[in-house]
Amino acid sequence: MRAQLFRTKHYLANENASHGLKRCLSAWDLTFLGVGAIIGTGIFVLTGVAAATQAGPAVVISFIVAGFACAFAALSYAELSSAIGGCGSAYGYSYVAFGELCAFIIGWDLLLEYSIAVATVANGWSGYFCNALTAIGLGLPDSLTKAPELGGFINLPASGIILLLMALLILGAKQSAKANNAMVFVKLITITVFIAVAVFNVHPENWQPFMPFGWFETQADGRTTGVLAGASLVFFAYVGFDAVSTATEEANNPQRDLPMGIVASLLFCTLIYIIVSGLLTGVVNYTQLNVSSPVAHALSLIGVTWASALVSTGVIAGLSTVMLVLYYALTRIIFAMSRDGLLTHYFDHVHPKTQTPVRVIVLTGIIMALIAGFIPLNELAELVNIGTLAAFVLVCFGVIVLRLTKPDMPRPFRSPFNLLCPILGVLSCSALMAFLPAITWLRFVVWLVIGLIVYFCYSMHHSKLEAEQ
Ligand code: ALA
Repeated sequence: MRAQLFRTKHYLANENASHGLKRCLSAWDLTFLGVGAIIGTGIFVLTGVAAATQAGPAVVISFIVAGFACAFAALSYAELSSAIGGCGSAYGYSYVAFGELCAFIIGWDLLLEYSIAVATVANGWSGYFCNALTAIGLGLPDSLTKAPELGGFINLPASGIILLLMALLILGAKQSAKANNAMVFVKLITITVFIAVAVFNVHPENWQPFMPFGWFETQADGRTTGVLAGASLVFFAYVGFDAVSTATEEANNPQRDLPMGIVASLLFCTLIYIIVSGLLTGVVNYTQLNVSSPVAHALSLIGVTWASALVSTGVIAGLSTVMLVLYYALTRIIFAMSRDGLLTHYFDHVHPKTQTPVRVIVLTGIIMALIAGFIPLNELAELVNIGTLAAFVLVCFGVIVLRLTKPDMPRPFRSPFNLLCPILGVLSCSALMAFLPAITWLRFVVWLVIGLIVYFCYSMHHSKLEAEQ
């Protein structure tokens, strides 16, 4: 039994060369996929909430703290994606480093991370989309824009966008990457315009007091405040660079391009976040930022009247790419788990024409569309964070374990300073987990317990490694 739970897979970079997925993504595509997944709700929405309720103008430090934790994790992802490969990302690396049970649990965790992220972002997207429709006189009735619990019937735009992305993903990775690149371009223009306007409207007195909530405090109602609590929340803004590693089997030259795509997209976005959050709290007093669209709000407060339309366009395009890339990652993780027998083999089928895992794209698309349409999900960003952080901790830990147990494994990319970065990654990501509220931990544990039941009732007995023994 013990041997079964800890049985490991052999590392073989590119072992899945004949897996059926099509190699068609360049280094630029991968970097844009990263930027596509990273910049979204985090910067357009959560920055305002975090500044107003948790960190004040020091939200910029929250971004730097979270950015460091992510940088350590990104270097670990870069090392393992180039050395081990496979579209399973943290799941696949854990299979090699820690064995089957741990791999299954982290795969199960990633299913939660990506599916809740897509459904949550779809709800945010729907809000912006409906506002834009209303602005041009085509507003939809409440019954079609709200979930039953909120007095409507279905959140149609939220379901609709997921089904649209489903069609795009079925068409192929290259087509999806092209659409992603175009939408990333639009969101970068929006951010550039914001920076260009805001930089001339900063009032330094808005940065005082700089750290009104201190570093960390738990309030009587269980809420956490302070710069570190803010870092745990704005961490959501960085979620997504890990998704790039699920594109390994579709990258033209994964060993060179994957590390570049992961590290470049993260560095670029960190810089943007520091600039935008610094300017936002300099333009408007942080107390005024607890609104659903703080970037648009700040621009209208300084009299840029076309701001709302501009930002809405940027956000609609921006959130679409976030959903697209995270949805893509979700399908590749399930595909990898099915191929290993830990989920039903029904899902590891690749369509001969489009060379995409159509069954899994359709099934996950329908489930997420139903969730996004009928369940109001607005406060689950922290659940996504805890799931992602858990994966980051394991990937950093995986680098340490594999450096010790498999020192001769070829590593086209090595995280620098020996074991320093992965160790700091484990520590910083664990700390960010610790700053999350108790309710988030409870939800997370419940999900993992369900995963354990699935593993012991099904996966363990159907594992490909079981058949090989
Ligand atoms: N990083 C993504 C966002 O901020 C998930 O929306």
